Amino acid sequence: MTYTAPVPAPAAEATAPRTSAELIRADGTALAHNYHPLPVVVARAEGAWVEDVEGRRYLDMLAGYSALNFGHRHPALIEAAKRQLDEVTLTSRAFHNDRLAGFAESLSALVGLEMTLPMNTGAEAVESAVKVARKWAYEVKGVAEDRATVIVAAGNFHGRTTTIVSFSDDEVARGGFGPFTPGFRIVPYDDLAALEAAIDETTAAVLIEPIQGEAGVIIPSDGYLRGVRELTRRTNVLFIADEIQSGLGRTGTTLAVQHENVLPDMLLLGKALGGGIVPVSAVLAGRDVLGVLRPGEHGSTFGGNPLAAAVGSAVVALLETGEYQRRARELGTVLDTGLASLVGKGVTGYRSRGLWAGVDVDPAVGTGREISERLVREGVLVKDTHGSTIRLAPPLTVTGEEIESALDALARVLG
Ligand SMILES: Cc1ncc(COP(=O)(O)O)c(C=O)c1O
Repeated sequence: MTYTAPVPAPAAEATAPRTSAELIRADGTALAHNYHPLPVVVARAEGAWVEDVEGRRYLDMLAGYSALNFGHRHPALIEAAKRQLDEVTLTSRAFHNDRLAGFAESLSALVGLEMTLPMNTGAEAVESAVKVARKWAYEVKGVAEDRATVIVAAGNFHGRTTTIVSFSDDEVARGGFGPFTPGFRIVPYDDLAALEAAIDETTAAVLIEPIQGEAGVIIPSDGYLRGVRELTRRTNVLFIADEIQSGLGRTGTTLAVQHENVLPDMLLLGKALGGGIVPVSAVLAGRDVLGVLRPGEHGSTFGGNPLAAAVGSAVVALLETGEYQRRARELGTVLDTGLASLVGKGVTGYRSRGLWAGVDVDPAVGTGREISERLVREGVLVKDTHGSTIRLAPPLTVTGEEIESALDALARVLG
């Protein structure tokens, strides 16, 4: 017998058309504050463009903090999702599903690490990596029970859970959320000597972002990542690279660590892995590391669901072509050249790699937030970070002309 569910009528007030201003007001009362959104209400999107409720178009130069590396609604990703919606969407890992193994195999081949632990959000991947590193420390390295430490970098951003904010040095992220999880040490970023000095017999892992995104696209000196690799190998410490924002084509290579030809012991991916459609994250590592997890010791109801695996496999297929990495490299020069011409004209400095840039705005012309708001009025979406910095991370499908038009708008609002 087949059960056919009745289709309920949608609640009237939730479907009645409302203006952007009405929806912003409703968000302000119906939703808890966590982000501080710019005043634009997106109703539709395609490629590098979004459209608001009133039909105004904006060039998306943020791309969901790099979750939309392939643009909004990439046809191949939408097609993969639609196909999977007609088959099966969720099994939980109480059972196997026919999509997950293929996803893990293709992802392993793409990045060169043999096992995958599928999760959903970036924060979950980070949490999972910390658990795996601790277990590895006790079972493989021989660290005394409950003594394992993980070294992280000042200025880090790895997510918002209680353990992750425990090792943040951003008071806005931490304030009021204690007590905090012990077992972390913070060292200055891009400082190998400080890292070496912090490593001792309790150190399970070093967890860093190869480029610090939220801190303002901070790119470490040449040789730093190679140095971290050599140091961690020499001291029997796991190197965990959080590439949740820097990975999957953004910087012109599949992974940002590839700029220094480095392979970490554990790699964290998220954001773009879900193609901007579903949350998909993953921890990748060798069997000697991820093999410490045994049945029942970790889990996630949605982690590795067939819809996520189908979209993730389609994302990997896009990256296998090399097209998006090449675009990020080539168009990165357009972005870099344009930003160089703004230095001294309202921009005090910038850092860029591939299609990713942190731009420091002269406080005399406005805060990062004010510049972002002025850009909304110019039809360009970016986001500020840490007071006077704005972040540019357009979809890798953006064109050179679109980047130039965004930079022209930036020049106008700085002028
Ligand atoms: C480097 C890095 N790690 C982890 C996260 C957390 O990801 P999520 O918001 O999906 O939990 C982010 C989010 O911005 C990030 O940039």
